[in-house]
Amino acid sequence: MRHIVIDCDPGHDDALALMVALANTDALSVLAVTTIGGNQTLAKVTANARHILGLLRSDVPLASGQEGPLVKALRCAPEAHGDSGMDGPALSGYDYPVASTNAVVFLRDTIMSCSEPVTVVALGPLTNIALLLRTFPEVKSHIDMISLMGGGIDHGNSTALAEFNIYVDPEAAHIVYASGLPIVMAGLDVTERAQITTDEIESLHGCGQVSEVAYELLRFYNESGHQLGFVNSPIHDLCAVAYLLDSTLFVGERHHVDVVTDEGAARGLTFVDARPKPASPDNALVLIDVDRARFVDRLREALTVLDTRIAGQ
Ligand code: RIB
Ligand code: CA
Repeated sequence: MRHIVIDCDPGHDDALALMVALANTDALSVLAVTTIGGNQTLAKVTANARHILGLLRSDVPLASGQEGPLVKALRCAPEAHGDSGMDGPALSGYDYPVASTNAVVFLRDTIMSCSEPVTVVALGPLTNIALLLRTFPEVKSHIDMISLMGGGIDHGNSTALAEFNIYVDPEAAHIVYASGLPIVMAGLDVTERAQITTDEIESLHGCGQVSEVAYELLRFYNESGHQLGFVNSPIHDLCAVAYLLDSTLFVGERHHVDVVTDEGAARGLTFVDARPKPASPDNALVLIDVDRARFVDRLREALTVLDTRIAGQ
């Protein structure tokens, strides 16, 4: 059993990652879900997290974190996720409780009170995680690894060079990559290969309550992906969870990764030192390929589990 906390900015792909994590109770114990301003404002992504956790009849504690980045101004992504941050499904009526404690303190308390090492899953800008590590460095000895969606070795999506999560808060990303903690990086190199096809999306229709929400999420996300040139839909954030469930789904390379924080064309660029003798030791397993069919199977299996689970409640 792996104990995890999930920091996210739901977000269509965040929502699917939450579903898969919460479906796999035999492998993952989700100790907390926390939210960060990113895809949309903190209020909107927290409302979306409440909807998803309420839909799944979860009892996982939820706390909201920082409104925006450490230094730069928050840049949301309505073009990808809509005005609500999770356009598509009509989710409402879930008055899921939100802790009164800020996510950074909530994460510290959760991690320090767990008798086992905790894996941090980061699916949005890394602001909360950076603040956690800097404010409460004692947590580092209780964290076994960070599995994050972010970055890209040879291209971006927010800009030609920078992926959204890193672009929004490059200073936070630099802090996390320099933390010394083991990192598994699901960057665009792998996540843009982790696509669900339009036919596979359609196959979810009519299969159950959670599958229907996933179907509606993916139909919207697929449409918004067309503007970025995608025909099918990369489920970016799910890679950071799927790796924890079955690392054999992925191929990775160990590299030293750092982040450009300067404002300008390279802001948020994650670069690797691929020289034969890099200046610094590697700090991340950079995922570069995925078995797409088996990856999608993990999503479908999880949705079936969740459909059955809530149908029985
Ligand atoms: O670039 C993809 C990342 O940005 C994903 O985490 C998505 O949810 C958005 O936050
Ligand atoms: Ca996200």
